[in-house]
Amino acid sequence: AALRRGGGPSSSHLLRRCYSSESAPERKVAVLGAAGGIGQPLALLMKLNPLVSKLALYDIAGTPGVAADVSHINTRSEVAGYMGEDQLGQALEGSDIVIIPAGVPRKPGMTRDDLFNINAGIVKSLCTAIAKYCPNALVNMISNPVNSTVPIAAEVFKKAGTYDERKLFGVTTLDVVRAKTFYAGKAKVPVAEVNVPVVGGHAGITILPLFSQATPKSNNLSDDEIKALTKRTQDGGTEVVEAKAGKGSATLSMAYAGAIFADACLKGLNGVPDVVECSFVQSNITELPFFASKVKLGKKGVEEVLGLGPLSDYEKQGLESLKPELKASIEKGIKFASEK
Ligand code: NAI
Repeated sequence: AALRRGGGPSSSHLLRRCYSSESAPERKVAVLGAAGGIGQPLALLMKLNPLVSKLALYDIAGTPGVAADVSHINTRSEVAGYMGEDQLGQALEGSDIVIIPAGVPRKPGMTRDDLFNINAGIVKSLCTAIAKYCPNALVNMISNPVNSTVPIAAEVFKKAGTYDERKLFGVTTLDVVRAKTFYAGKAKVPVAEVNVPVVGGHAGITILPLFSQATPKSNNLSDDEIKALTKRTQDGGTEVVEAKAGKGSATLSMAYAGAIFADACLKGLNGVPDVVECSFVQSNITELPFFASKVKLGKKGVEEVLGLGPLSDYEKQGLESLKPELKASIEKGIKFASEK
């Protein structure tokens, strides 16, 4: 306001200029698994992000079509499709962020852990290439089981000598997205104003929404309603898997969540202050080596892993009961990566 009074540009104008596409730094984002159910809408959403200058779409099949299609959209980024392992290096080279939704999704009756055998191998080979071609990129791991694929990625990077714990993220944003929607519905508050941290991991009971910290506060939710909201958040993925009846798991809401998380990473890289999202990262806020919690993002990735804050008794119980399962999933990932 002071500036405007003096006849200069308003501060909001300055802010807009500072982050407009013309002055935003060059950023390359690669999506691995870009022709899949998540990959395609995620490619679309990343093409719409003005912070992206280059978008590399990689898959084992189908990427030329997705890339040609998305490339016609009138936004800043240049789009290129890469298909097959021969082109993986080119897709990755120079990437600031690599988003990985490659792998098989769940069918009804499957847990995320049932995907382990196939997806662990895919993640391992993709991460080996990341270590070689873009060791400094931030990795956004979407492929399930995230509780194990993130530890696998860490082991691969450690072996390659490129591991930087600030740069590896398990994408748990969809749990937050769901918790917000379900809470807004019950608390009768506008979803756009809602914030709910979700901590722990990304499977069943390891997903722990902290509704006691939800804002705007709601004083009229009973303990039973909080329990039901918690359960619905934990089972949100299964709700979609069952509704899709064999045709896969969440893709559209996952693409939305993945785009939000990648955007937060881009903002952090670009020096925007106070960017905070929940993510499954290397952590020492509990005794487990990886844990999802609020994370502050900065120019080098994780700037700070934020603590859990005050928990209700129900949440404290949830935290204790999730630890054995999360620990086992982490160990399973580490074991896989070190054996093969
Ligand atoms: P999808 O089967 O529709 O697509 C997966 C894509 O990965 C396919 O296009 C396939 O060709 C590709 N792919 C397979 N092997 C590859 C390799 N070696 N390199 C590159 N691409 C490869 O599956 P969808 O629905 O897109 O799900 C992908 C993954 O995301 C699954 O593991 C799923 O469980 C996970 N997921 C994670 C969520 C989260 O919250 N973190 C939520 C929903 C799904």
